[in-house]
Amino acid sequence: MKIDPWTSAQYADYSKLRDEFGIEPFDIEGLPEPDRLMRRGVIFGCRGFEYVRKAIMEKRPFIILSGLMPSGRMHLGHKMVIDQIKYYQRLGAHIYIAIADIESYAARNMPLDKAEKIAIEEYVLNYIALGLESKDTQIYFQSKRQAVKDLAYLLGKRIIWSQYSAIYGFEETTNLCHIFSPLVQVGDILHPQLKQYSGPLPLLVPVGVDQDPHIRLTRDLCNAHRLLNVTFTKDGKVGIFVKGEDDVQKLLDKAKDEMRAMGYSDLNMIPKYKALYIPGAAESDIPNINEALIKMEASLNEYTFYPAAATYHRFITGLTGGKMSSSNPPSAIFLTDSPEEGAKKVRSAVTGGGATVEEHKKSGGRPEVCGVFELFVYHLLDDDNELKAIYDGCKAGKRLCGECKAQAATLLKPFLADLGAKREAARSRVKDYLRYD
Ligand code: TRP
Ligand code: SF4
Repeated sequence: MKIDPWTSAQYADYSKLRDEFGIEPFDIEGLPEPDRLMRRGVIFGCRGFEYVRKAIMEKRPFIILSGLMPSGRMHLGHKMVIDQIKYYQRLGAHIYIAIADIESYAARNMPLDKAEKIAIEEYVLNYIALGLESKDTQIYFQSKRQAVKDLAYLLGKRIIWSQYSAIYGFEETTNLCHIFSPLVQVGDILHPQLKQYSGPLPLLVPVGVDQDPHIRLTRDLCNAHRLLNVTFTKDGKVGIFVKGEDDVQKLLDKAKDEMRAMGYSDLNMIPKYKALYIPGAAESDIPNINEALIKMEASLNEYTFYPAAATYHRFITGLTGGKMSSSNPPSAIFLTDSPEEGAKKVRSAVTGGGATVEEHKKSGGRPEVCGVFELFVYHLLDDDNELKAIYDGCKAGKRLCGECKAQAATLLKPFLADLGAKREAARSRVKDYLRYD
């Protein structure tokens, strides 16, 4: 059975967002054992997922890159990223996690030494306690990784201020460290594909949709550094084009060799147009062709990258009705909350229930806007059938908010207790994850 109780007002907003920004729907078809967040549409969109999908299907290596702002306490909203990273880790991904200490210094005024402490105590310990493995995982600091800062500096060559400020809308009073920090994030996202790390590979960044501007900037800069592009032309042909003015003939020849090696024998080179047409190729062959070109270009240009892909997850509703946010503690279940604190927040949560019990019984509740229901959807219930029963019961006015709260508190308490114990056990393993270069 496939349940989809989330085609709600809120979900409609996400699809509007998707349409507005050209984000593609996230299709889990064919992914091995999609996790809870994928099955339930919490991950609602993506950009450029096709290379990662292909790598997963063909059991080839790929990269997951994520980042955290070490400025506040880790709550259940942040846990979603780790759940996804664990999924991809099981499939064999190389894992990189940035501690965004430059960003938190620039944007939140957080000193670097304090950021390090918060990153370890609030995030790294919880990541380990939640089950992130150290194999093929590195957690590093933006401020300490030279390759990240070099990329930030040098890739910036290919974007001009008018484009950049149109993306971010900085003010006259924004400090320049803050203005520079999106480029540092681009450095985060792309550096795993450098030779001295994993080399060019399909790469995915699982994020909340608020990070989309950084993803677009990154993808634009990937594209801007390519020597060749492959497109489907207006007259229905697949063509490879040299982008710059240099080495046109050499690049066309190399592209031709690559296409021959892929089995395309009918090739039409027109140097005047800086073009190589492949009449035998279909539009759906473009990812394969581009992948071959990326590998070839990487030997000529060290800044050749697979275009970074992203998936976008919905934000979890807070227990006070709005967003779950560290700056509003009653709204959030922090991973370091004691079981009793957590349960207390659940018990006093704003729900989607009717104004009175009579009202609720008569007209039903609104699970689609209910923070307690979202706890089940995102974190506490694995069984899709049970979830559906709660949803239907609420809609029909048969299920009351008190029952949901009691059940959520009952599930949350052992989860938080167990996590606390695992955090203590994790302390000695932090060094297996952290890199100081
Ligand atoms: N900007 C992100 C945030 O606000 C943190 C971050 C830094 C990040 N580098 C990243 C996220 C790279 C994903 C990928 O949370
Ligand atoms: Fe939310 Fe449960 Fe109340 Fe429905 S019954 S509004 S799901 S707490």
